[in-house]
Amino acid sequence: MPVADDGEGLAVPGATPGGRGALRRLLQRYSVSAKHLLEPGPTDDELWQVAMAALRAPDHEKRIPWRFVVARGEGLARLADLYVDYGRRHGKEGRELDFEREKAMQAPVVIAIIARINPHDEVVPPQEQWMAVGGAVANAVNALHFMGYGAKVVSGARARDPAIVAAHCREGEELVGWIAAGSLGKPPKARGEIDAGAVLGKF
Ligand SMILES: Cc1cc2nc3c(=O)[nH]c(=O)nc-3n(C[C@H](O)[C@H](O)[C@H](O)COP(=O)(O)O)c2cc1C
Repeated sequence: MPVADDGEGLAVPGATPGGRGALRRLLQRYSVSAKHLLEPGPTDDELWQVAMAALRAPDHEKRIPWRFVVARGEGLARLADLYVDYGRRHGKEGRELDFEREKAMQAPVVIAIIARINPHDEVVPPQEQWMAVGGAVANAVNALHFMGYGAKVVSGARARDPAIVAAHCREGEELVGWIAAGSLGKPPKARGEIDAGAVLGKF
């Protein structure tokens, strides 16, 4: 059954009056690619709230197996240097290297997602720690959406590149990827119907 429209937008049966607007907005979250993200990006105060929202994600034993590292301005220029270096090491030159630089600097704010999974945790197995990381990222992206910003989680080959990983991570940490965040020129287009029936079963 597709998400229904009650005339005021998406129907959200069961939501409290206070929650209705939030749930309706949540049901309309779409990722926005970095190339469509504009200045201004979220402020430091707003990113504080984003981190607070991320910390409200379910997390067994509150291990907090993640941290965020924010790049804007000079930080993005540093990230761009790393991307250019990555490009050079992969045989790119000239305009292709400009693309690498531009790729890193498209969004006004880029938040690196860094995980620290303890494989020897006797209470919280790695998969549950990873779930806590995912929950934190989802809450962060949703918080940005509630603030009116666009965002997208990206990873790819650069997130696995040893030099880029080393620039972000301490011993025992992994670079998951980045959340690109910024203002929206226009609201993102709704894409693909979602259907809870496909994921909701009865025991
Ligand atoms: C950890 C993680 C890494 C991702 N990496 C990429 C990526 O490198 N490139 C990409 O296009 N989408 C990537 N995605 C998917 C997008 O963030 C997004 O969820 C997807 O395009 C679906 O769009 P939607 O969020 O609007 O449903 C990643 C998602 C996650 C959770």
